[in-house]
Amino acid sequence: MNPHVHPGPDTALFDLSGQVALVTGASRGLGQHFARALALAGADLILTSRRTDNLAPFVAEIESLGRRAHPVALDVRDQASILSMAEQVHAAFPQIHILVNNAGCNVRKPALDVTWDDWNLVLDTNLRSTFFVAQAIARGMVQHRYGRIINIGSVTSVFGYAGLAPYGASRGGVRQLTMSLADDWGPHGITVNCLAPGWFRTAQNQVLYENQAWVDYLVDRIPVKRPGDVHDLDGAIVFLASESSRYITGQTLLVDGGISTGAMRATVSHPSKGSNS
Ligand SMILES: NC(=O)c1ccc[n+]([C@@H]2O[C@H](COP(=O)([O-])OP(=O)(O)OC[C@H]3O[C@@H](n4cnc5c(N)ncnc54)[C@H](OP(=O)(O)O)[C@@H]3O)[C@@H](O)[C@H]2O)c1
Repeated sequence: MNPHVHPGPDTALFDLSGQVALVTGASRGLGQHFARALALAGADLILTSRRTDNLAPFVAEIESLGRRAHPVALDVRDQASILSMAEQVHAAFPQIHILVNNAGCNVRKPALDVTWDDWNLVLDTNLRSTFFVAQAIARGMVQHRYGRIINIGSVTSVFGYAGLAPYGASRGGVRQLTMSLADDWGPHGITVNCLAPGWFRTAQNQVLYENQAWVDYLVDRIPVKRPGDVHDLDGAIVFLASESSRYITGQTLLVDGGISTGAMRATVSHPSKGSNS
């Protein structure tokens, strides 16, 4: 081989064959999509939902790809449920290589209307759970001196949005937690990163997409001029789960069509046609 010609990227860097990935909140939406992308890259899956019957059709789909899919009941707001899940999966699998902390919820309300219970629901589901699920699974990863933890954040991890105060606080917390855990567990061979999707249509935000005026407003603010398609997340989840990201930890990767580049434009016409800022 000519030593001056670079052989190009090693696609084995993205191969997850022989690895086991645990995805929380895999009964629908982005969690199911993340799980499918990891299975297509070769991983066997542990799938969680509060009710395992919600997972049955998806388990069948993953098995039809030739991968294992192991459903486990998990309520991420319940400490006993997290501990029981961890015990079950550590008994069933000798090693868990990848954890995707995806389960989450949202309460959209003006800040003045947010109740104590709204706050606890969102913070417990999105932030407290991310820590305690990671802690429960990292115990095994530390023993094997290997792990990839991917915490799902959001553009609200870095931006403030009216009507999303508890959600934004939870997602900002996930970003910060990611950095702390990366520092804590880096010496044990574990990377911890945050994948922060922009706006993707799922059950969680269906109601917004039914309002065409809101969709037009959203698209106007996204530099690539369209809302996210779930397949736009495939590369990022496989990258962060695989050997290819081995020297990246504590980072937040925004997959948002560029909406986080700026909250508003300096001109009403195309920004390249001059600015008075
Ligand atoms: N859609 C977006 O544009 C977007 C953007 C950025 C970030 N995110 C985040 O990405 C994640 C997935 O979003 P999505 O839009 O796919 O939401 P979704 O359709 O509402 O799905 C949420 C998932 O979380 C699980 N879940 C909720 N509460 C739970 C609990 N207490 N215990 C265990 N599982 C629980 C649900 O499972 P069961 O109901 O079956 O238990 C479901 O599988 C969420 O964390 C969300 O905040 C979404």
